[in-house]
Amino acid sequence: SHRIMLGPLVAAIDQGTSSTRFLVFNSKTAELLSHHQVEIKQSFPKEGWVEEDPKEILQSVYECIERTCEKLTQLNIDISNIKAIGVTNQRETTLVWDKETGEPLYNAIVWLDLRTQSTVERLINKTPGRNKNHLKHKTGLPISTYFSAVKLRWLMDNVDKVHEAVVSHRAMFGTVDSWLIWCLTGGKSGGVHCTDVTNASRTMLFNIHTMDWDPELCKYFGIPMEILPRVRSSSEIYGLMKICSSRKSGALSGIPISGCLGDQSAALVGQMCFKDGQAKNTYGTGCFLLRNTGAKPVMSDHGLLTTVAYKLGRDKPACYALEGSVAIAGAVVRWLQDNLGIIGSSEELEKLAASVGTSYGCYFVPAFSGLYAPYWEPSARGIICGLTQFTNKSHLAFAALEAVCFQTREILDAMNQDSGIPLTQLQVDGGMTSNRLLMQLQADILCIPVVKPSMPETTALGAAMAAGAAEGVSVWSLNPEDLSEVTSEKFEPQINPEESEFRYARWKKAVEKSMNWET
Ligand code: G3P
Repeated sequence: SHRIMLGPLVAAIDQGTSSTRFLVFNSKTAELLSHHQVEIKQSFPKEGWVEEDPKEILQSVYECIERTCEKLTQLNIDISNIKAIGVTNQRETTLVWDKETGEPLYNAIVWLDLRTQSTVERLINKTPGRNKNHLKHKTGLPISTYFSAVKLRWLMDNVDKVHEAVVSHRAMFGTVDSWLIWCLTGGKSGGVHCTDVTNASRTMLFNIHTMDWDPELCKYFGIPMEILPRVRSSSEIYGLMKICSSRKSGALSGIPISGCLGDQSAALVGQMCFKDGQAKNTYGTGCFLLRNTGAKPVMSDHGLLTTVAYKLGRDKPACYALEGSVAIAGAVVRWLQDNLGIIGSSEELEKLAASVGTSYGCYFVPAFSGLYAPYWEPSARGIICGLTQFTNKSHLAFAALEAVCFQTREILDAMNQDSGIPLTQLQVDGGMTSNRLLMQLQADILCIPVVKPSMPETTALGAAMAAGAAEGVSVWSLNPEDLSEVTSEKFEPQINPEESEFRYARWKKAVEKSMNWET
């Protein structure tokens, strides 16, 4: 049969909190040609702890590559047209492995994990004026359980194997991007130990002004700098795929890995938010609203983070973003399914919520991992309030969806206050955006239109674009004018603003209770 000629293809590995994907795009049209997705197991060994298995993460990448290549072959698409691979990943999740054996020395500690809460409280208490923003001038971040430095410190203090490997100079630290790139470029036989500026900016060890690891921060957390990966731009050739020939994915050996971005940065690129002021909100396990602030890092007065948005080439300038991070979005759906068993799938949630169309005064604050932006309160805990005899699981389902929308509203308000220029519409993406009820609810609660691209895999697209545009690959232009028009769907607000304000005010009361329920 005939092979279809498509021109250069570019692929992306998208390793998220809940699942791994491999996707292949046509670099001429940005069309998604094929993909495969595998769910990732999370373990909760103690209350507040969240771990994943680094080897399972790596295996899931191989499996996704292999299945996608099979699908492409069935479509008569020649996989030798794949010219570059980008990596995008759940950020902050912390791994340590032994560079001689290639073995992980502990599970990956997932960004949501709360085990470092007491360490964080101790660190904040030691700062002048108990200031959680003590390191913000360098890092753009508040001291929180969220970022990698405290997780790495915990590993060094509590896991003998990690401690021993550090002392004997065999330890390598990395976020998921570093782990994957190291393994895929050869692992213990010559793997490349690197990360990109966006992932580095989430560790709390990185200075967002000098754009490098900061010796003072490393000293503060007691982290030896030799275990850190080399920091590179988000778009350059890091190394070549080196997968052993016995694996089916070995067909991709020799292809450059040339794009690397934390998933939220990748979504910003994939949504083509290249201009100062452009923003997107991604609904994954958590929910993250990023607004491009151009060449200057803007410090928030309203609880947002300052983060590196991207640096698309070694000699290109860095772009920064303001970020509002919400820990629990899609995770609340999984909780309703796995912990309460009131739904069998995420599709059922939409049906259940739609069957009532209201929470009937029930408010659900899913502060399972404390509250992130704009509060940064690790001791907050989830609450459900406003229950009556009448409340049933459908109302609870509705309240869960509404919680995602209210949390986004809090961030959007903070963002508008910081920048002084209110957003007039919100670009969205991510798994939960297939929930039409959620999208309508979001427009209603924000009182501005919500715009969703018809191709939902914007995170992967961003990483693929970065990979395809890298020096030495150059099959993709990042000039917005050259990129094909994205088709999208728009949700307009349908309720009156007073109604929306009333519900939002109630939500705020519920949030206050979630922060003070212990006292
Ligand atoms: O900061 C965590 C974030 O990168 C995780 O994204 O899509 O896996 O929830 P997601």
